[in-house]
Amino acid sequence: MRRIGIIGSGKVGCSAASFLLAEADEILLYDIVPRLPVGEALDLQNAAEALGLNVQVKGTSDLSLLHGLDVVIVTAGFGRTPGMSRMDLLNRNLPIIEGIAREYAGGEDGGTVFIIVTNPVDVLTYVFWRRTGVERHRVAGLSGVLDSSRLKTIMRSRGIRVSGLSSFVLGEHGENMVILRDRMRREYGLSDAELDTVQSETVKAAAEIISMKGATVHGPGASIARMVKAVLSDSREVLPASAVLNGEYGIRNVCLGVPVEAGRNGFRIVQEKLSENEESMLRKAAENVSKVLGQIGYGAG
Ligand code: 2OP
Repeated sequence: MRRIGIIGSGKVGCSAASFLLAEADEILLYDIVPRLPVGEALDLQNAAEALGLNVQVKGTSDLSLLHGLDVVIVTAGFGRTPGMSRMDLLNRNLPIIEGIAREYAGGEDGGTVFIIVTNPVDVLTYVFWRRTGVERHRVAGLSGVLDSSRLKTIMRSRGIRVSGLSSFVLGEHGENMVILRDRMRREYGLSDAELDTVQSETVKAAAEIISMKGATVHGPGASIARMVKAVLSDSREVLPASAVLNGEYGIRNVCLGVPVEAGRNGFRIVQEKLSENEESMLRKAAENVSKVLGQIGYGAG
């Protein structure tokens, strides 16, 4: 039985659910808004039946029903409005994530893999891990798969299909994203000016969509589904995701986007060879996230 829980039945959570209808046996939607999860579940069940899929989609406002699942996705919280940074959401989303983490701090979900989506995702993935005490490989934040989809979109618009590690966006899911410039320069012959443009367009991609349609929905939804599919199928593919670092890349006590091998037991950090410049950009991103963690009482030690 492939059982998925989605905490937060908003646009992103339901987009992820729609991309996962063919991948699960059961999808359980949760939200605090009365009747919303049941309504969304019925709508998604209609979609599944229309597609001839055998998945069962249910909705609940009782979080205690989301235990013993294969994957739990946390999208609950506020999204950005035009002009906001992801970090601007911290004060409102921190208590929401701490509240959800309390539900999973009992250690009864030994086999569950958690994917945090709520922003600022690097900070809140670390908070979730600290609060729940789950093994660090069983929790990761949605970051690089989504940012890499933007990088690939931008590169495709330039007629270049990037693949492999070059397409990975690492570091902070925010202003301190790290595109692998040296690798991209080597493999695709991009100039520094072109790399600057690509980096800045990748950082701004979400804000651009938000300014046009009010929110990002399907990019996050499909990126979540990509991570979930890798877990459920035990694919062991290497993806970029915000993971709990404990010395890898010379960084610890923080969550940051790094390459991870995704499988049924979660996300194992992979130490890829990065250039000196790429590693220093990663460390700079780590410093930024660590600073925020220190300010909210989740500093090292
Ligand atoms: C994004 O980049 C929501 O942070 C998410 O679209």
